[in-house]
Amino acid sequence: MKRTIITLAILLLCRLALAQGISVETAKFRVGDNPAWASPSFNDTSWDVLRLDTDWNAQGIDNDNAYGWYRLHVVIPSSLKGRDSDKILLALGTIDDADETFLNGVLVGKTDGYDSPRRYIVDRKLVRWDKENVIAVRVYNGDPPGGFYGKPAWITLVSGPYILTPPAPATPRYNGPAVFGVRPGSPVIFRLAFSGEKPMRYAVEGLPDGVVLDSEKGVLSGSVKEEGDYPLVLKARNAKGSASASFTLKVGSRIALTPPMGWNSWNCWGTSVSQKKVMESAMALVSSGLADYGYSYVNVDDAWEAAERNPDGTIGTNENFPDMKGLGDWLHGNGLKFGIYSSPGDRTCGGYLGSLGHEKEDAEVWNSWGVDYLKYDWCGYSKVYGASSDHSVAALLRPYIKMQQYLREQPRDIFYSLCQYGMGNVWEWGAFVDANSWRTTVDITDTWESVRSIGFEQQDGLHPYSGPGHWNDPDMLVVGKVGWSDNLRDSRLTPDEQYSHISLWALLAANMLIGCDLSRIDDFTLNLLCNNEVNAINQDVLGRQAHKDIEEDGIEIWSRELSDGGIAIGIFNLNEAPVPVYLGGAIGKIDLEADSVRDLWRQKDIPTDATYTVPSHGVLLVKMKTSK
Ligand code: GAL
Repeated sequence: MKRTIITLAILLLCRLALAQGISVETAKFRVGDNPAWASPSFNDTSWDVLRLDTDWNAQGIDNDNAYGWYRLHVVIPSSLKGRDSDKILLALGTIDDADETFLNGVLVGKTDGYDSPRRYIVDRKLVRWDKENVIAVRVYNGDPPGGFYGKPAWITLVSGPYILTPPAPATPRYNGPAVFGVRPGSPVIFRLAFSGEKPMRYAVEGLPDGVVLDSEKGVLSGSVKEEGDYPLVLKARNAKGSASASFTLKVGSRIALTPPMGWNSWNCWGTSVSQKKVMESAMALVSSGLADYGYSYVNVDDAWEAAERNPDGTIGTNENFPDMKGLGDWLHGNGLKFGIYSSPGDRTCGGYLGSLGHEKEDAEVWNSWGVDYLKYDWCGYSKVYGASSDHSVAALLRPYIKMQQYLREQPRDIFYSLCQYGMGNVWEWGAFVDANSWRTTVDITDTWESVRSIGFEQQDGLHPYSGPGHWNDPDMLVVGKVGWSDNLRDSRLTPDEQYSHISLWALLAANMLIGCDLSRIDDFTLNLLCNNEVNAINQDVLGRQAHKDIEEDGIEIWSRELSDGGIAIGIFNLNEAPVPVYLGGAIGKIDLEADSVRDLWRQKDIPTDATYTVPSHGVLLVKMKTSK
């Protein structure tokens, strides 16, 4: 019953939202190709008029294997101006095939593929406010149908970077997980994640024998022989005050009791990674304060491997990684953990040496370097799999079981991260090969289409398979400066899309591996990653991945139950226009009579009997709590 009320509220409000942008339904059109047609001053009065929601063939234009130009004339009102940092989105619907798009004569976007939605974000400076603007689109079409189709074009404002996370207090505040799992006898590597003014002194009550604290760095090390739950009190003090937090060190068979948080080299450096770059990001993890929020893994992805194996079959590094053991020691000395990458095939995806036939040697070498995390990427193994007639699920498991045995023989805990893009419903069997996480999809990239497909569409229904010790992995974060090469750029996701990305990954209990150059991290990205209340959702000890409750008119509501009885709820707006949403005292988990609703990004309690505007591709992330 209540669900119906909410659905209606969203439907009604969607219609209201249409005022927040400009819909363009028709354009001038001519067959042919002429660069002069990009100019705003070109006289196109004699051209045809075509609708933008229907292809040109359906409108009587026979123009295949050729060019055609659309010219959209639109007055953009200064009410859409926003702030200096804001931008303008040209959402051109779907175009078949390739296009080049000009705003007032300036090239603003180009897409070679076909049938994909065109969304170009352009600088406000190119807009002629309150006057006519010309969006000229040069379209090449191979086979029919051709040109624009699907829906009218839509022009709207896109927010520039805006920070929601309130500044952290100068006094110490614990932001890390409430538990840490380690196997008996394995090294304990744990950094106390307190924010606040430095220097800080740390203390821990209840430490078991064998574990020591570096009270200046706040780093726990050592090992515990006896299985058991060790309740500790973590403490920190600085010039401004002190804080403490209850914590459990769980010594037993399970590790990764909360999803891993840290950094991986791939989304920024790709194969141009080097030890120097990794060190710069590792040092920045500490100096920027990210480590004070629980980010602790520093993972080297592909491209560290030597060209050939050593004569004894062991693997070494290439010249870009002169000292892996030194890297591991530095990380451990700072309470951080060291990750590495390989493939069960003879070659990795980047064409480097894989572990096939050398699984034991590789596990031993990694142990000698102090590796704490292995991402094991299918890639070159497709040759072995393809050559065999056995394509059962057992055949998919085989290479992962093999490496798992050797990892477990090492005298340290190695987080086992499967990367095989979700084949054979890996979430159904990943835990049986003792994996701590498994990639559920193909590679992510820094576009809304990618985040939408991987995050919203492909994680739906996977929640039963995730939990403490074994997590669904929808791939690494695409915020900050990324580029998969030496050419880094700011993430192409808008700020609102980045808030949705981080909110969804927090709700999904996803691996939180940052993929940008940390040595050049900006304030917006840092605040996005260092909201302790948002991160607490990801790190909640119950480990319940969110499920999708409602999908209606481009609004998706995802929720997850939390260990303190609260419920975290993300109300996501997948539409191109902002949508006002009325909370009305009940959303998502309908039966809950909430005593409080907290906006987690802004970190403040908000009234339920009110309407909130959820930006286009943005989110309202709340926590509902009841004292009952
Ligand atoms: C891909 C993997 C990426 C990255 C890359 C390295 O298969 O999905 O995340 O690890 O290989 O070559």
